[in-house]
Amino acid sequence: MEKIWESKVLTNGGVFHQQLEQALCEYLDVPYISLFSNGTLGLITALQALRVTGEVITTPYSFVATAHALLWNGNAPVFVDISPDTLNLDPDKIEAAITPRTTAIMPVHCYGNPCNVDAIERIADKYNIKVIYDAAHAFGAKYQGGSLLNHGDLSVLSFHATKVFNTFEGGAIVCQDLKTKQRIDRLKNFGFVDEVTVMAPGINGKMSEINAAMGLVQLKHMPYVFQRRMEIDATYRKALAGISGIDCVQLPEQGGANYAYFPIRVSRDFPISRDALYEKLKSEGIYARRYFYPLISSFPMYRGLSSAQVSHLPVANRVADEIICLPIYPSLREDEQNRIIQMLDAASHLNHF
Ligand SMILES: Cc1ncc(COP(=O)(O)O)c(C=O)c1O
Repeated sequence: MEKIWESKVLTNGGVFHQQLEQALCEYLDVPYISLFSNGTLGLITALQALRVTGEVITTPYSFVATAHALLWNGNAPVFVDISPDTLNLDPDKIEAAITPRTTAIMPVHCYGNPCNVDAIERIADKYNIKVIYDAAHAFGAKYQGGSLLNHGDLSVLSFHATKVFNTFEGGAIVCQDLKTKQRIDRLKNFGFVDEVTVMAPGINGKMSEINAAMGLVQLKHMPYVFQRRMEIDATYRKALAGISGIDCVQLPEQGGANYAYFPIRVSRDFPISRDALYEKLKSEGIYARRYFYPLISSFPMYRGLSSAQVSHLPVANRVADEIICLPIYPSLREDEQNRIIQMLDAASHLNHF
């Protein structure tokens, strides 16, 4: 705080902003990063940066900001169902949704688990359309040994307080060349090129110095953060394996997980419903989250779309009714985690009602 105050530069690409961009490029092993005040403005600007128009194929199984970014940009979202294994966009269903108006695909690496990036790239190349990954959950996730964030034309991160790495509020766009980085940097600063030149109707998406400084101090702790998350994940997996009706969502087969969330599916074999379990946990002070329920496609501004029909999205609708994300964060103590596990075990012995 003192350093920021002394420098008299509180925002607009100050020293901490530059340092964090540099540090993140190195840490994440990506060529260029542009910091944002949040992930949503990153998504909106990514669409602007690539001049995306018309229809954009996306997943209904995400946080609502994914589709909202399309509406803010005047794009028409086209929902495609998810695959039951990865809970990400099902590549086998994408081509059927492409029309002459399709200019981009916006998949989400849900829970930090990679989309089938190779299949999506093949489709994008075939139809000459862009790919913008909503990588809000994917900080530090790897794919085949490299950063997952280097796939697609752009990847957008969120550094919101609830994320693996946070700057309280914040986000970033990862891009692969300097020219695109410059365009993004201008678009997030009202479109200013220099003091007197404005190249586009840009927005104010700049990250302030205090948020950038928070990022720099937190970045040091990431090895510990990932280690603890991995341990908590392993403990849950082991303990829940024997509970009938609870299925842990699989980690990526090829490794590289970032353990951002711990999603479980509560199936019909479990004695009580997902919502009853959620309420039960809540009544015990355990704040699990129903990510992602309700589905984006069921919200009033989307449900009229033909691609939003329940019959078109059977997998997403089923998963949304079964999912609960259990608490996972570095300071979750062993005894606290055991209490959560015991609660789930006790619920599994309840009688059907
Ligand atoms: C998948 C997804 N996309 C976008 C966002 C929006 O990010 P932010 O809250 O930083 O605007 C979030 C989370 O908040 C998210 O989970």
